[in-house]
Amino acid sequence: MRGTIAVLAGDGIGPEIMASAVRILDAVNAKFGHTFETKEGVTGGVAYDKFGVHLPAETVEMCKKADAILFGAVGGPVSDQESTRWKDAEKNVILGLREKFNLFANLRPLKVWQGTESFSPLKPDLIAGMDVLIVRELIAGIYFGPMRRYEVDGEITAEETSRYTWKEIASVVRIAFVAAQKRRKKLTIVDKANVLETSRLWRDVTRFIHAEFPDIAMDFMFVDNAAQQLVRSPASFDVIATDNMFGDILSDLGGAVVGSLGLVPSASISAKVGSASGGNARRFGLYEPAHGSAPDIAGKNIANPTAQILSLAMLLRYTYDLDKEAQAIEEAVLSAWKAGKKTKDLAAKGEEILSTDDFTSCVIEQLQ
Ligand code: IPM
Ligand code: MG
Repeated sequence: MRGTIAVLAGDGIGPEIMASAVRILDAVNAKFGHTFETKEGVTGGVAYDKFGVHLPAETVEMCKKADAILFGAVGGPVSDQESTRWKDAEKNVILGLREKFNLFANLRPLKVWQGTESFSPLKPDLIAGMDVLIVRELIAGIYFGPMRRYEVDGEITAEETSRYTWKEIASVVRIAFVAAQKRRKKLTIVDKANVLETSRLWRDVTRFIHAEFPDIAMDFMFVDNAAQQLVRSPASFDVIATDNMFGDILSDLGGAVVGSLGLVPSASISAKVGSASGGNARRFGLYEPAHGSAPDIAGKNIANPTAQILSLAMLLRYTYDLDKEAQAIEEAVLSAWKAGKKTKDLAAKGEEILSTDDFTSCVIEQLQ
């Protein structure tokens, strides 16, 4: 297969882990006879230095010509959020791309592979078998509602509004039902319906759409309880669908539960375009690690590239429908771990520690 992938490495550890993913792509091309090519674009701090904006128009144009975006990370150190170079970098780039490309659904798999239970801070018998897919709504809700800061009677006040339409909820919930059909056929809607009106609408929409998917067992759970259950009985979930804000928080929690955000890839997808029956329908998506740019460890060749590599696997699966290739990448990562090859964040006391590059080489070896 041919294809063009826009590569936006970004800031911090972005360029290092992206280099790993591109090496893996080359190995996939060689092994499976594909000719996927990459086109690099600038974003974040590098873009700011060059163009005075975090998301230059030419980067967006380049992405429009590609089949998908493989994204690294953007953003500066926590201690330097107010400098013009970094102020709003994440918002401008990440939220900007999500909105521009209508990336309405975000898929974050939280999986504990057999033999990797020790990565988790939870007890092995509790964590064993955890395999959750969080489907997060990505371009509406409180992130995109009106926000403002103003004064009432001399009191500084800030507010934002969470807003959802029936249609916005329906599109993402449908993705979740379809995903559940290919998995263990269970969907949990996470909300705060004891308080919030948007959550009540999520329930109404989901009950309505459930009629199209009678084979799926669907239940509702309040978000505070869901946070608790993700720690107490993580293996009891299959697919979780939730709004933008809850999904953001729960996916970090889930990352910690599986062992590290450095293990969690993500796919932010839009609707399929083209003819499904003709076999050439393609889904545009942006694929990125769930973690950030980690400036504190940037440039040291110690970051774990797993989330970036697994994001590439998701790209092949969701944009190009190449399940076999995606699985080969996932299995190669797992085999590398099983052979004791680990980056600093995963190596147990006394175990060998591999650099980003060396770990990548081991994954490639397993892939070949
Ligand atoms: C994520 C990130 C982003 C979000 C930030 C960087 C805007 O935390 O992708 O989870 O909140 O969506
Ligand atoms: Mg987040």
